[in-house]
Amino acid sequence: MSADLIAAAEGAAKRAYAPYSRFRVGAAVRGASGAVYAGCNIENASYPQGWCAEPSALSALVMAGETRITEVAVWADSARPCTPCGGCRQKLAEFGSAETPVISAGPEGERARWTLGALLPEAFSLEVEE
Ligand code: THU
Repeated sequence: MSADLIAAAEGAAKRAYAPYSRFRVGAAVRGASGAVYAGCNIENASYPQGWCAEPSALSALVMAGETRITEVAVWADSARPCTPCGGCRQKLAEFGSAETPVISAGPEGERARWTLGALLPEAFSLEVEE
């Protein structure tokens, strides 16, 4: 069920620090343990120094000791479904697989659903051992 993930992403969007774009985004990822980690976008007066909601959520995942994700939700009160930006797709691919579902949601709930592989075909990766 994705309802808890979408709710976490919505809650995170309410915490967004987006005084420059006013575009508040929340992201939530489900770790392999089943636990949900959320984060928001954090902008900066030096615009390029701001960052997206997705890496904030991934930071919470890694800080909890997890490194695999099974589901992603991105929430924004936008006219069109908010998709993860290109850089965030690569960041998500680090911890997910081509089959990982990525849900876009807004005030009315789920709006669109893709897989990470559809959003980022041929993602760059290196063989690593943890
Ligand atoms: N943003 C995200 O946080 N995640 C996305 O998936 C798309 C864009 C943020 C970055 C910036 O703070 C604001 O949305 C407007 O681009």
